[in-house]
Amino acid sequence: MNYFVTGGAGFIGSNFIFHMLREHPEDRIVCLDKLTYAGNLSTLSPVMNDPHFRFCKVDICDREAVNRLFDEEHPDAVVNFAAESHVDRSIEDPGIFLQTNIIGTSVLMDACRSHGNVRYHQVSTDEVYGDLPLDRPDLFFTETTPIHTSSPYSSSKASADLLVLAYYRTYGLPVTISRCSNNYGPYHFPEKLIPLMIINCLHDKPLPVYGEGLNVRDWLYVEDHCRAIDLILQKGRIGEVYNVGGHNEMRNIDIVKLIIHELGKSEDLITYVADRKGHDLRYAIDPEKIHAELGWLPETKFADGIKKTIRWYLDNEDWWKPIISGEYQHYYEKMYGNRE
Ligand code: NAD
Ligand code: DAU
Repeated sequence: MNYFVTGGAGFIGSNFIFHMLREHPEDRIVCLDKLTYAGNLSTLSPVMNDPHFRFCKVDICDREAVNRLFDEEHPDAVVNFAAESHVDRSIEDPGIFLQTNIIGTSVLMDACRSHGNVRYHQVSTDEVYGDLPLDRPDLFFTETTPIHTSSPYSSSKASADLLVLAYYRTYGLPVTISRCSNNYGPYHFPEKLIPLMIINCLHDKPLPVYGEGLNVRDWLYVEDHCRAIDLILQKGRIGEVYNVGGHNEMRNIDIVKLIIHELGKSEDLITYVADRKGHDLRYAIDPEKIHAELGWLPETKFADGIKKTIRWYLDNEDWWKPIISGEYQHYYEKMYGNRE
């Protein structure tokens, strides 16, 4: 199989490329990535010289460039991770989210259609379902939960999902969609909760907790997500949506305290700051469908995964130190400088 993996220089895409080259050594991966602020070519350095891997700096919205690469490479399947992925940035400036997440998805699917109905997988998110109340632990997102988005980010991802399903129904494009909960693990960009708290803790910097820190997320170790997408590609039913996640729910404040204790720091570092606008309360996935149909279950418990992740950040300063200098500092100052 020749796979196009878009957004492979980012967090989950890079982990997926490592997973596929390890688990399917006979296959070939072509990574298309624009290398935005979130894309890091150094992440892919372990596979850059692998004869089964090729990197191409391509914007998925660039129709001509995408079509040229399809003509050259004749992919058997496209796995679309490329996206603007940070909710806070979407609240500041939605435009690029609509461009990449919606238009980019349509450009890729058009190329799939015009090159022999190439198999297409869309990496989506549980955020398309909106949120669940904190006082109803019995409720979970299933694949039939209505789309009900909160942020420009989740709205752009939901729009893309609707387009993917429309291309299936209208043109018969062989598609699947996975809607995953919050990932964590190696190569997670430092603007997101877990790496941000680890890195701030290591520098004895304030730990900015939004609101009261009571919001709940359903955390999944990134390798478990990669395994799920791999299974969907091999055995998933065409035209179907699969929820991925399950039963690793944590309150933000508890995660922050856990990181503090693992690193031997003081809870005095916790700083409660203004809440995120439209902040989703709770996400929780019911993974019954992917379990029953494809035999998938998460393998890494949060208690183990978070230790592995902290260890990874301690051992890989060379990866994150260059990222948190320069442009990231401006971002941090803008988002957190006057946040009370
Ligand atoms: P990320 O921000 O770490 O990486 C995104 C990658 O996409 C970067 O390498 C970036 O350079 C690339 N990219 C952005 N715009 C592009 C464009 N126009 N053309 C080509 N490449 C472009 O994101 P992530 O956390 O790895 O998320 C990957 C995907 O998984 C996204 O679609 C996201 O919505 C989805 N998702 C993420 C999570 C999570 O917890 N991180 C959970 C569920 C779903
Ligand atoms: O659920 C899947 C989604 O998970 C993905 O679709 C998104 O791409 C991914 O970014 C993630 O979205 P969240 O908004 O849940 O992740 P984030 O790490 O930004 O925030 C997690 C929680 O922590 C959220 O309740 C906000 C809170 N938070 C976040 C940051 C960055 C803080 O309290 N302080 C912070 O500084």
